[in-house]
Amino acid sequence: MEKKPVISATRSLATQLLFLISSILFTCPSATARELLVGFKASPSSSVSSFQSLLNDSTSTFSLGFLRVNQTQLALTVIHLPSLQPLWQANPTSSFRWSDKTQLFFNGSLVISDPHKRSFWSTGTSQQGDRVVLLNSSNLQILQKQEVLWQSFDFPTSTLVENQNFTSNMSLVSSNGLYSMRLGDDFMALYARFKDGKTQQMYWKHKAMEAKAEVVQGQGPIHARLESDGFLGMYQVGKTAVDIQPFNSFHRPFDRFLMVQLEPDGNLKGYYWAQTAWVLDYQAITETCELPSPCGPYGLCRPGSGCSCLDNRTQVDTASFQCIDGDDQSGDFCSGSDDFWVLRRKGVELPFKELMDSDTTSSSAEECELSCQRNCSCWGAVYNNATGFCYPLNYPIQTLVGVGDESKVGYFKVRTKRSWHKKMKVGIRVLGAVIVVLTGVVLGYGGYKIWNRRRRGPQWVLEEKTEVAPGPYKNLGSASFKSIEMF
Ligand SMILES: *[C@@H]1O[C@H](CO)[C@@H](O)[C@H](O)[C@H]1NC(C)=O
Ligand SMILES: *[C@@H]1O[C@H](CO)[C@@H](O)[C@H](O)[C@H]1NC(C)=O
Ligand SMILES: *[C@@H]1O[C@H](CO)[C@@H](O)[C@H](O)[C@H]1NC(C)=O
Ligand SMILES: *[C@@H]1O[C@H](CO)[C@@H](O)[C@H](O)[C@H]1NC(C)=O
Ligand SMILES: *[C@@H]1O[C@H](CO)[C@@H](O)[C@H](O)[C@H]1NC(C)=O
Ligand SMILES: *[C@@H]1O[C@H](CO)[C@@H](O)[C@H](O)[C@H]1NC(C)=O
Ligand SMILES: *[C@@H]1O[C@H](CO)[C@@H](O)[C@H](O)[C@H]1NC(C)=O
Ligand SMILES: *[C@@H]1O[C@H](CO)[C@@H](O)[C@H](O)[C@H]1NC(C)=O
Ligand SMILES: *[C@@H]1O[C@H](CO)[C@@H](O)[C@H](O)[C@H]1NC(C)=O
Repeated sequence: MEKKPVISATRSLATQLLFLISSILFTCPSATARELLVGFKASPSSSVSSFQSLLNDSTSTFSLGFLRVNQTQLALTVIHLPSLQPLWQANPTSSFRWSDKTQLFFNGSLVISDPHKRSFWSTGTSQQGDRVVLLNSSNLQILQKQEVLWQSFDFPTSTLVENQNFTSNMSLVSSNGLYSMRLGDDFMALYARFKDGKTQQMYWKHKAMEAKAEVVQGQGPIHARLESDGFLGMYQVGKTAVDIQPFNSFHRPFDRFLMVQLEPDGNLKGYYWAQTAWVLDYQAITETCELPSPCGPYGLCRPGSGCSCLDNRTQVDTASFQCIDGDDQSGDFCSGSDDFWVLRRKGVELPFKELMDSDTTSSSAEECELSCQRNCSCWGAVYNNATGFCYPLNYPIQTLVGVGDESKVGYFKVRTKRSWHKKMKVGIRVLGAVIVVLTGVVLGYGGYKIWNRRRRGPQWVLEEKTEVAPGPYKNLGSASFKSIEMF
């Protein structure tokens, strides 16, 4: 904690007096700055092992600073000081080195840059701010006079704290980037990114109950807020909630700080701080097997008895949840060259089938399978014999739920190891390249020789002896041999 915020020397006498009076009035323990002014600069200090604080709120509960992610990396975060829990993070997708070359500065915008990794983040405040403050709500603000130009509450990462507004153009994203939360017209939902690109699968949806107020079309989007009274509320206009999701501590009048977090397992959990630990106060998904992928790809989750694998010949590796050997199970089968084998399993169901599109045109399990087999973007299908519903899966297979009902059947594609096929192709390509290059060399050399002979006349006899004509062929032979041997 070497670098202390720079207090501008141009602070007027009046403000200094005010500061003095207020520090006497509120008996500030130490006269540390409550704001960062234009010109502020700080770099991580090598002596700090976990968190380097740069700016505290008035209660010293929250702090903006550098948080060590690991040995080499840092994140610019607002943390809850007693627990070191990050509540907000500047650009979670880029990393900054814990090095004195990395610098945070305030020039009207708050900027952090790491020249070595060329990573850069800025609040990009369009107008020039004159100070940065951290409120006792954990909201980090850039102000110009009293006007708020930018605030961290508008850019949540994976956490919402009490009284933070969550609007329809925001999203919460889990720290591993896999799951997100967004608002719809009259609902709140969680989405998984099982496949690259834009396709996101909704796996949890909470529609507004509209008990006390209704969602009126055309009255604008809804927003959500975590209320200090112990609930997650959804609102459209006014102060009356269109929906309330109560926490365990709902209406219990004790002083606590609340937050909700989108966890790396895809669950949305609420907590309150109880002096020494965070206490679980709410969870969107209460059954483990209803999480998006609790047992990993090709896993099978049985309520009450945990994880196994869809392929009952493999044992689930509980440390990594690997049911299928390492090879890449991503993308789809539309590039043409990817082969797959098929895994079938009775007594399986999708964990969030009510949120999946079903195809009612299949009249049998065979038909359901066939429609998936023919479709290169389909990874599998689950058929319910009782209802005749066929659920095609357009993303790599995740965990399924084990059920007693054997008439629910699953068909799953497993990508065969690309290795042989792919490496053969690579090998052939390498061989081709070698032939082309060597042919070029031979022709070029031959051409040069002929040209040289013509130019220099009799010298060719001498050079003939060092001619390496048979050489390239031999080299080519051994090169191609190598390329085959390698694969
Ligand atoms: C913030 O508060 C913590 C704990 O009280 C203290 O260690 C740290 O120095 C403070 N940081 C600043 C910038 O005042
Ligand atoms: C530190 O974390 C970053 C990003 O999370 C990662 O890329 C890097 O490999 C990690 N370094 C070490 C030494 O663990
Ligand atoms: C602050 O610094 C950043 C990065 O160097 C720069 O892009 C930006 O224009 C600067 N802002 C002002 C108001 O000078
Ligand atoms: C936070 O600050 C506001 C005014 O800015 C004040 O009304 C409120 O009591 C403070 N809360 C706590 C917990 O200090
Ligand atoms: C959240 O929204 C309410 C009304 O919609 C507003 O009064 C309040 O100031 C907002 N809070 C923040 C921190 O932006
Ligand atoms: C996000 O939505 C709010 C209203 O819900 C609106 O005031 C704000 O301008 C929007 N922000 C962006 C970046 O679109
Ligand atoms: C494994 O699954 C197959 C097909 O579902 C079933 O026929 C077989 O009995 C199962 N074996 C074990 C050991 O559970
Ligand atoms: C193939 O499957 C995808 C995803 O299940 C679906 O969106 C698409 O319509 C299917 N295509 C055909 C031709 O059935
Ligand atoms: C599926 O349903 C049909 C009739 O709807 C029935 O004849 C058949 O036995 C069922 N198959 C299984 C595996 O339950």
